Amino acid sequence: MIVFDNVWFSYGEREVLRGISFKADFNERIAILGESGGGKTTLLKLILGLIKPDKGRIFIDEVDITELSEEELIPIRRKFSIVFQEGALFDSLPVKENVAFFMRELYKIPDEEIYLKVSQLLQRVGVADAENLMPEELSGGMHRRVAIARALSVGKTKMFLYDEPTAGLDPINSQRIISLIEELANKEGIGFIIITHIVYVAWQLCERFIFLHDGKLIFDGSKKELIKTKIPALKEFIKELLFKVTESE
Ligand SMILES: Nc1ncnc2c1ncn2[C@@H]1O[C@H](COP(=O)(O)OP(=O)(O)OP(=O)(O)O)[C@@H](O)[C@H]1O
Ligand SMILES: [Mg+2]
Repeated sequence: MIVFDNVWFSYGEREVLRGISFKADFNERIAILGESGGGKTTLLKLILGLIKPDKGRIFIDEVDITELSEEELIPIRRKFSIVFQEGALFDSLPVKENVAFFMRELYKIPDEEIYLKVSQLLQRVGVADAENLMPEELSGGMHRRVAIARALSVGKTKMFLYDEPTAGLDPINSQRIISLIEELANKEGIGFIIITHIVYVAWQLCERFIFLHDGKLIFDGSKKELIKTKIPALKEFIKELLFKVTESE
């Protein structure tokens, strides 16, 4: 379980998160919505202990992570499989080395075993043929799949964290990544937090929606509650979704 208890965070003078509180179970499917620059990625970094709150507490499985050292954070971070928004892959390494990277770092297992696991992971995310390609040779959609394979390589995941997994992809590839995210969650029976500013992506995947606005968490609710919201900023944000949902009814 993730618990944020009145979390405040600033980058220097720039106050990004102001008194954020929520609880999330690892098996939930949650979208964090909000405008660009609204603090979504910052929130993800706080979950992983990559940055520390100025005020407030963050608990992961009842452990207060706000005071932990880098070393103490390792087992916390290993509970999550993360696909970051930018620079997901190491540019100088071929796909198979990218996917092998954390396995080499974390586990002392022979190369043969690592490469077998790499092939299996690439197959699972639908890019089995990409093993020897360099990241620059991949399309946006393939790039994202390899990043997901690498996130999966760590194993023992309790929750997936996806930061803008469909950013920059065409509608077809976006749809494929959405299906992959759903398939992985169904197969593994574990939840995810997805950060996106494309509300329709969230709508397809999630059952719970958190909206950040002006540094504050101003909405936390279900699909039903989302489309009925009276909060002006959220209504504006989901305008397109309301159009799509009513159109398909
Ligand atoms: N390392 C940093 N140093 C200083 N300011 C930062 C840093 N990282 C982010 N910010 C600022 O903090 C604010 C929140 O950034 P964050 O990346 O969390 O937003 P976001 O909601 O993920 O946006 P996007 O949808 O564009 O990814 C932005 O104004 C950003 O410019
Ligand atoms: Mg971001």
